[in-house]
Amino acid sequence: MKTLNLGLSLLLTGTMLVGCKEEKKEETAMPEQTEAVKKGGITKSEFGTTPEGVKIEQYTLENAKGMKMEVITYGGIITSLTAPNKDGKYEDIVLGYKNKEDYFNGNPYFFGAVIGRYGNRIAKGKFSLDGKDYQLTVNDGPNSLHGGKGFDKRVWTAEEVAGAASPTLRLSYTAKDGEEGYPGNLITVVTYVLTDDNALEITYEAETDKKTVVNLTQHSYFNLSGDFSKLITDHELEIKADKFLPVDATLIPTGELKAVKGTPFDFTASKEIGKDINAADDQIKKGGGFDHCWVFTDSSNKLKQVAGVYHKASGRYMEVYTDQPAVQFYSGNFIDGTKDSKTGGKYEKRSGLCLETQHYPDAPNQPKFPSTVLSPGEKYTTKTTYKFSVK
Ligand code: GLA
Repeated sequence: MKTLNLGLSLLLTGTMLVGCKEEKKEETAMPEQTEAVKKGGITKSEFGTTPEGVKIEQYTLENAKGMKMEVITYGGIITSLTAPNKDGKYEDIVLGYKNKEDYFNGNPYFFGAVIGRYGNRIAKGKFSLDGKDYQLTVNDGPNSLHGGKGFDKRVWTAEEVAGAASPTLRLSYTAKDGEEGYPGNLITVVTYVLTDDNALEITYEAETDKKTVVNLTQHSYFNLSGDFSKLITDHELEIKADKFLPVDATLIPTGELKAVKGTPFDFTASKEIGKDINAADDQIKKGGGFDHCWVFTDSSNKLKQVAGVYHKASGRYMEVYTDQPAVQFYSGNFIDGTKDSKTGGKYEKRSGLCLETQHYPDAPNQPKFPSTVLSPGEKYTTKTTYKFSVK
């Protein structure tokens, strides 16, 4: 495993202490400035104030080509990301709320957020480690989803990485021992880099002081059309996965790894998302569309291309690279038409799609799945890249 420079000593110093006193951290960490300051590809401004009175900062990253990304310290949320169409026009291609308050009002769709401590579902919010039982916050029917009051609803500390070749933003958050039921203080660092070849590189790092489980991911919803009144059903998707994880009625994997061949879940060759999304298939019915975990054919932990999304009308193409074993492809089935879109109207079912690179859901309860256990002294480090181009 790669060496991190997080250092557990951090636990005893800054990060840990401010992690325990969120509000205090904001008072001390917030520079006294209200004006945006332009600084080497990253601009910093004030975004707003949470109902609890915590000031949230916004960082705008811009690469040499003019691609832009806005990130807020609340949830590490990517609130906008632009990419060029075939005419070279940069448009926003990630869903976000029109009204800032929607981010603070629970962000019901997890728009753009960093997800942790455990992305996806853990059955009944329970698991055992070394004979000890843990009860997590249950927030999705009988299950725990995306860490309960997870990393998406926490205030992160952001810093620009000076001297980096491309705009680089480092976000850190320390989850406390027992937070949402998980054992161990978990120092978490998520780094966003916007490279000059129009890629968003995300690195996730974590260290714990007690054995715990970790599964970090990103919950951006992409709509490559740049027009959020359009649905993603006309996007063509390829996932380099020959198996997926069938789920039960509460979306917990049954434990079976099922071949995609001959099912609506076969994206081994690029296929329009809308083609089989309403197929008469028990798994499609359970997910209300696609809301499943695909297991990559190449199970190595090397960084490799695992998915591609193409939007013909705009020409935009997005490649996904990761070192993780799986991806949750979610076709936005729960988006319910109640939230205002950035481009007018409301977000509707299937206004956006997520490709959440990760370990398998419910792995803490399924010994046959690759382990998500992190022990003291180990370094969790994973990388995912979303790269944009045109075809
Ligand atoms: C994940 C899940 C979905 C849904 C969304 C949030 O992607 O897989 O079932 O809960 O988050 O709406």
